Amino acid sequence: MFDYKEKFNVSGKCCIVTGGAQGLSRGMAEALLENGCKVVLMDVQKEKLQQVVEEYRGMGYEAFGVSGNLADREDIDRMFAKAMELLDGRLDVLIPAAGIQRRHLPEEFPIEEWDLVLNINLNHVFILCQKALGIMLKQPEGGKIINIASMVSWFGGTTVPAYTASKGAVTQLTKSLAVDCAGRNININALAPGYMDTEMCANMTQERKDETTLRIPAGRWGTPEDMKGPVLFLASAASDYLNGAVIPVDGAYLVK
Ligand SMILES: NC(=O)c1ccc[n+]([C@@H]2O[C@H](COP(=O)([O-])OP(=O)(O)OC[C@H]3O[C@@H](n4cnc5c(N)ncnc54)[C@H](O)[C@@H]3O)[C@@H](O)[C@H]2O)c1
Repeated sequence: MFDYKEKFNVSGKCCIVTGGAQGLSRGMAEALLENGCKVVLMDVQKEKLQQVVEEYRGMGYEAFGVSGNLADREDIDRMFAKAMELLDGRLDVLIPAAGIQRRHLPEEFPIEEWDLVLNINLNHVFILCQKALGIMLKQPEGGKIINIASMVSWFGGTTVPAYTASKGAVTQLTKSLAVDCAGRNININALAPGYMDTEMCANMTQERKDETTLRIPAGRWGTPEDMKGPVLFLASAASDYLNGAVIPVDGAYLVK
């Protein structure tokens, strides 16, 4: 019998979500907290992160914050070590979701911004996956990794060459890691949000936003709340035979 209460139960799981001070990461961390997980949120916005964590702790959730710069490898080492201390050495779910967007025409794209986007959107993802595997592979229960892709894992986008390259790479990285880990009790999948109403898209012109809305069959932009169901599925035993999938959460944008 498929007991959904048991299969989707994530209570007691130890999790890391990067970028948790706002936006989609915050929504995904909240889904885990609301369902009984212990979650370490990591973000570069120290004060905002602290406020978010205090708010959750005030609600009785087991939330912890580790602030730092995920574009910096030494800082990643420090942040991960601190998170593992807070989680008593256990890690069941990793969501390396922090990401940034930079817009310039390709011929004008500053190379230092290229490096920054790749460092955050791709390199921090691999480095944390590697560190997480070091823990998860030693746990009899294994673990779950949920990467965050994008519509530009398929499309080209406009004026976002670094972002598109990074999200295409995250998609392929997810598949590569999934193949190597599927037989070892680790599920690695990705969620590909469509157009989501967060600060990342705040700098789009109203004209471009309206054009985009018309292209979304669901008739609206997505929200952090829309990420919650897919995250709980991928974080739970309900997805134990799902590996290397890239799941759009996009109101049918991709298939139109
Ligand atoms: N909003 C969308 O339409 C959309 C669509 C597809 C994918 N995504 C992806 O979802 C993820 C979350 O995006 P969002 O829309 O919530 O964006 P957001 O800008 O609202 O949030 C990103 C978070 O990452 C943090 N961050 C950025 N650089 C960091 C660094 N160097 N170190 C630590 N933290 C850092 C920010 O402080 C922020 O809290 C990203 O990977 C993004 O690419 C977003």
